[in-house]
Amino acid sequence: MGMGVDDVEDRLRLREFRKERAQRYLEKRSELDESLEEVFDQRTLLALYELLNTGKLREVMGVISAGKESRVYHGVAGDGSETAVKIYLTSSAEFRRNRLQYVVDDPRFKSIPRDFRKFVYLWAKREFANLVDAYNAGVSVPKPIVQRENILVMQFLGENGVRYPLLVEEKFESDELKMIWEQLLENAAKMYRKAALVHGDLSEYNVVVGRGPAVYIIDFAQAVKLGHPLAETLLLKGFETLAKFFNKRGFSVNIEEAVRMVKAG
Ligand SMILES: Nc1ncnc2c1ncn2[C@@H]1O[C@H](COP(=O)(O)OP(=O)(O)O)[C@@H](O)[C@H]1O
Ligand SMILES: [Mg+2]
Repeated sequence: MGMGVDDVEDRLRLREFRKERAQRYLEKRSELDESLEEVFDQRTLLALYELLNTGKLREVMGVISAGKESRVYHGVAGDGSETAVKIYLTSSAEFRRNRLQYVVDDPRFKSIPRDFRKFVYLWAKREFANLVDAYNAGVSVPKPIVQRENILVMQFLGENGVRYPLLVEEKFESDELKMIWEQLLENAAKMYRKAALVHGDLSEYNVVVGRGPAVYIIDFAQAVKLGHPLAETLLLKGFETLAKFFNKRGFSVNIEEAVRMVKAG
């Protein structure tokens, strides 16, 4: 059977469609590159391109979150899996001052750089090390992939480019809140006893809730090792913050009991 006029037209239309789509993709790409260039300095871009060129990252796509001090992008890893790429800005003068207290007394990082950029690199390195420790202890966190300078690459918590909601963003039934609370306790206990870590900034904004509900804890920049002068205060503060949230949502929890459970199991 020969090809009819309709078939030819279909093919042409399809070809046109593909060309347009490719064009749109290229435009989107260069928009993203331009925006990356506006936001990040040369050295950050170089580090990012190195990750791309060495195949650690296949692609960097849209912005997931644009904070004052960092941005998180959706990306694709070398193996095709979805990633989150968190990049610290190297331009905020407040950065070092506000964070110094977390970095001092950390036996893993003895010397603290005066140079602003180097301090940001240290901050990213520390966050990645905390994430690795938590991950190895079996805490439910995004799987760490790679860190270079001010860039952290980790598993993307979400599907097809759509991130899972934060705890604060969703309404949950009380049986779901119960499951979420129990998972939070379990994870905080693993973190404390197996990883010897306190998250340091635990709140409804740093808890991601996937299907199930399945709880994930993110944002380990403020985490400290046990024995750090802030550890106990931060542990308590985290549970105070979470308890306030759960109580507001009508699921009442006990802070002292939570802290006791985390420490003793
Ligand atoms: N691994 C991840 N997967 C999906 N989304 C993420 C991931 N990590 C961070 N995000 C998104 O980016 C936001 C900011 O990340 P976070 O690490 O909390 O940085 P900060 O609070 O310092 O800006 C999160 O609230 C979440 O929406
Ligand atoms: Mg956060």
